Amino acid sequence: MLFRKNTLLQEIDYNNLPRHIGIIMDGNGRWAKKRGLPRSAGHKAGAESLKKIITEANKMGIKYATVYAFSTENWKRPKQEVDYLMDLLMDYLVNAEKTLAGENVVIRAIGSRAELSEEMQRQIIKTENFTKDNTGIVMNIALNYGGRDEILNAVRNISKDAASGSIKTEDIDQELFDRYLYTASQPDVDLLIRTSGEQRLSNFMLWQVSYAELWFTPKLWPDFKPKDLHKAVLDYQNRGRRFGGV
Ligand code: FPP
Repeated sequence: MLFRKNTLLQEIDYNNLPRHIGIIMDGNGRWAKKRGLPRSAGHKAGAESLKKIITEANKMGIKYATVYAFSTENWKRPKQEVDYLMDLLMDYLVNAEKTLAGENVVIRAIGSRAELSEEMQRQIIKTENFTKDNTGIVMNIALNYGGRDEILNAVRNISKDAASGSIKTEDIDQELFDRYLYTASQPDVDLLIRTSGEQRLSNFMLWQVSYAELWFTPKLWPDFKPKDLHKAVLDYQNRGRRFGGV
C-alpha cells in the first residue's frame, strides 16, 4: 500500500508542476447525507480535507491554490447553513495561525468583503498580515466570491482610473486587466479540480481559467485525499497544453 502511494508521487515531474491550482470543493452535503449526518458535518469534514490538501500541495512545491469556500450565490442557502459556514471559516482563519501558518502557507481571502461581518473582515486582515511573510504556497480562500463579480469590480476600477487619467484607454490590455483582479500578480490557473462528479465552472475564476486543464472526480470533497491530488497533477502533466498553438 505504502509502496503504491509512493509510486504515484515518484512519477511526478517537479519541473512541470501546475503553478496555480483551483479547487471547487463540492459534495460536502452529499458526504454527510450518506452518513445520516447534518450538512454541517460535511462542511466540517471538508474543512479538514482542505487543510490536508493544502499541506500536501505545499510540500509538492505548488505555489498557488485558490479554493472556492463561499460563492456570491451561497447566501441563498438556509440561514442556518450560511451561519455555520461563516463560523467554520472564522475558526479556520483563527486556527490557521497555528496550523497552516506553521506550514509556511500564505493565506489570503479573495472576493467582496463588504457583505461579510465586521468581525470576519477584521480576522481576514489579521490572518493575511500574520502569514504575509511566509514563503510557501499562497492559498486564496474565495469567500463571497464570484467570477463575474470580480470582472465587474475590475471594470469599475479601470473606468475610475481611466476617468481620473491615471491610465489611458488604449493601454487597457490583458496584462493591465489582470492587475485589477483579486488575484493580481498571480499566475493564471493551470489546473482546475472539481470534486463530486459535477462538471461546471459555477462562476469560479472565469478570467483566470481561460487555459486551465479541467480535472473532475466523482469523489466527494471530504473523501479527496493527497493521492487524488497526485493523480490530478499526473494527469495534468500527461496532457498536451497548446494555448491555442499547434
Ligand atoms: C460544496 O458542498 C461546498 C461548499 C459550498 C463550501 C465549501 C466549504 C468547505 C470545504 C469547508 C469550509 C471551508 C473553509 C475554508 C473552512 P455542497 O454543500 O454544495 O455539497 P452538496 O453539493 O453535496 O450539497
